[in-house]
Amino acid sequence: MAEKAELRIGGDVIELDVIVGTEGERAINIEELRSKTGLITLDPSYANTGSCESSITFIDGEKGILRYRGYDIAELAEKCTFLETAYLLIEGKLPTREELDKFRESIRYHTMVHEDFRLFYRAMPKDAHPMAACSAACASLATFYPDSLDPRDPREVEVGVHRLIAKLPTIASYAYKHAIGQPFMYPDNRLSYVGNFLHMMFATPCEPYEVDPVVERALDLLFILHADHEQNCSTSTVRIVGSSHVNLFASISAGINALWGPRHGGANQGVIEMLQAIAEEGITAKDFVDRAKSRNDTSRLVGFGHRVYKNFDPRAKIIKKACFDVLARLGVNSKLLEIAVELEELALKDDYFVERKLYPNVDFYSGVIYNAIGTPESMFTAMFAIGRLPGWIAQWAEMHDHQHKIGRPRQVYQGANERSVQTIDER
Ligand code: CMC
Repeated sequence: MAEKAELRIGGDVIELDVIVGTEGERAINIEELRSKTGLITLDPSYANTGSCESSITFIDGEKGILRYRGYDIAELAEKCTFLETAYLLIEGKLPTREELDKFRESIRYHTMVHEDFRLFYRAMPKDAHPMAACSAACASLATFYPDSLDPRDPREVEVGVHRLIAKLPTIASYAYKHAIGQPFMYPDNRLSYVGNFLHMMFATPCEPYEVDPVVERALDLLFILHADHEQNCSTSTVRIVGSSHVNLFASISAGINALWGPRHGGANQGVIEMLQAIAEEGITAKDFVDRAKSRNDTSRLVGFGHRVYKNFDPRAKIIKKACFDVLARLGVNSKLLEIAVELEELALKDDYFVERKLYPNVDFYSGVIYNAIGTPESMFTAMFAIGRLPGWIAQWAEMHDHQHKIGRPRQVYQGANERSVQTIDER
């Protein structure tokens, strides 16, 4: 017998179905609540609200578990590349060698952007944030590719998906080249997905550029760890925007904007700025931790805390190890890494952080790696976006398969009751 929940409202009792997920999560299904009772639920930041049933990513925040399509993140990080992971998220299965080759070929085929894109960047100030450029450029793909806009046509969707995965690194690297006044580099399709991105970021037409395999693997790993994270702010944005049946490019552009925020993907830039400020201003790690705890100071310990993880963030564990490996292999001595370790040690022993279950999240060490491989801070979040793209796409596609109504939350109105308008002379 399926489990039921009873809701008592005044003298009435109604029964609601309890849905059980494949990992035992239980949810009260309130789809018919309003039609049966006239009531709605109120949950402003959705901490208690499931917006969908999904088979893409599983997180157990209490146990620190993250799995894509059933595979543990640590195992994927060890055994797969980012493109294999992207295929897994989007297609629901790990690819065979043949399937992966075909996928990779199709991505390679689409890496170039229209030549007129150069003009698009020229219209932006040199200090335009890459996330603004990426989101605008991503939305504008809809104007260049009118043949891949229909979200209900599988062939158009497939082409749109491959175009987006292929072009986002090109778009992001051009934002950087524009900012520093260097020529845009055409993609080099002999390189891997990540190698090509590094080439477009750091090569110039004047000098030979060799992709460093240590850096290439580190970035591939970071992309895998960022590839999906179920119904976070940007993913929920992509789903709700997509539910209007707007095209994929516009939906992803909205997700890029959501990711930009300092409480979301923007935190990786925030971490490095925080570490640099500590290093430059000579503040001690202890003083900074005290500041982050103070009610009179709005600073937070950036890279700490997570809405879902209340034990540890499994991505942070992997990234911390990768951070030490990469820096050692590159022979980089990082003052910022020393400060990060000190902050982490202090916070993990501090009652304020312990009581609130605040642990290092995915962004705490990723910025140190980006920094060590020569990436400017402003590009960190754009790189997170490249990593998160397959997840957004998979979630967008799943939403189209399962959700047939436009996403449209309700509200509890708390404003003025009806009143009449006074003319301007009466006011
Ligand atoms: N430093 C100091 N205090 C914090 C922090 C922090 N990093 N994070 C949360 N708190 C405190 C917060 O002040 C509140 O205290 P109190 O109960 O006394 O008012 C309590 O912990 C709960 O915080 P919250 O903001 O209600 O928790 P949330 O689950 O809504 O927020 C979060 C999660 C990630 C937005 C938040 O922890 C935060 O702002 N962290 C810093 C930014 C960051 O690192 N973001 C990256 C998240 S992971 C990658 C991603 O999602 O893109």
